[in-house]
Amino acid sequence: MSASIQAPFSQTTTTPLQGHFISFEGTEGVGKTTAIEQLCARLQANGIDYLRTREPGGSPFAERLREILLDPNTAINDDTELLLMFAARCDHMQQVILPALQRGTWVICDRFTDSTVAYQGFGRADGDATVRGKIDTLIEQFVTQLPELTLWLDLPVLEGMARANKRSAADRFEQQATDFFTRVHKGFRTLADEYPKRIQRIDASGSADEVSARIWQKVEEKWDI
Ligand SMILES: Nc1ncnc2c1ncn2[C@@H]1O[C@H](COP(=O)(O)OP(=O)(O)OP(=O)(O)O)[C@@H](O)[C@H]1O
Ligand SMILES: [Mg+2]
Repeated sequence: MSASIQAPFSQTTTTPLQGHFISFEGTEGVGKTTAIEQLCARLQANGIDYLRTREPGGSPFAERLREILLDPNTAINDDTELLLMFAARCDHMQQVILPALQRGTWVICDRFTDSTVAYQGFGRADGDATVRGKIDTLIEQFVTQLPELTLWLDLPVLEGMARANKRSAADRFEQQATDFFTRVHKGFRTLADEYPKRIQRIDASGSADEVSARIWQKVEEKWDI
């Protein structure tokens, strides 16, 4: 299946990447955005130049696709959804992520390829090998740089949803039933087993400060800060 995918794949650029690339993953409401805010504050305090971005979205064009993808009124089939996710990612990579890494900026991304495997591959298709094959092919062909470190915030699905429910109206994904997110969670667990070096599981229970401290420990372990 997919365990052979490693970063980086075919670099389309000859400029060496100077910055570091970190993604945050996890089901709804586990605290990704909160944890990213805290990580960025720590990076700033350490004088590290960073760019905070997100998927789907992150570039002007990809943000337009995000609106369509998250709009509860959008009616598209699973393949169309998958391809739109990659169209958004392709633009985001080329316009934002690679230029930032090339100029030495750290890129902190709220969701990346693992969310596609988890949501489209497991949430929509329950880990079906054909769908997984399509996603892995798209990653190999279009994603020129995987994150060096992926922080998977792991929390029981219902606890995350309870945290998320305190917020605004549900988008097209948030409207899915609990079973969907249980499959998504299985997707993240599967990925963490497949990529034990890149994907670090973070216990997302406890206070935001506790989660943030666990994350900072992983970042300091990986890079001498
Ligand atoms: N460790 C925590 N303990 C309790 N509440 C938290 C914690 N971290 C975040 N929250 C709160 O839970 C809610 C969801 O957090 P956040 O928006 O950071 O999650 P998320 O993973 O980014 O969600 P989404 O997947 O919907 O983007 C927010 O109201 C946030 O303030
Ligand atoms: Mg968020």
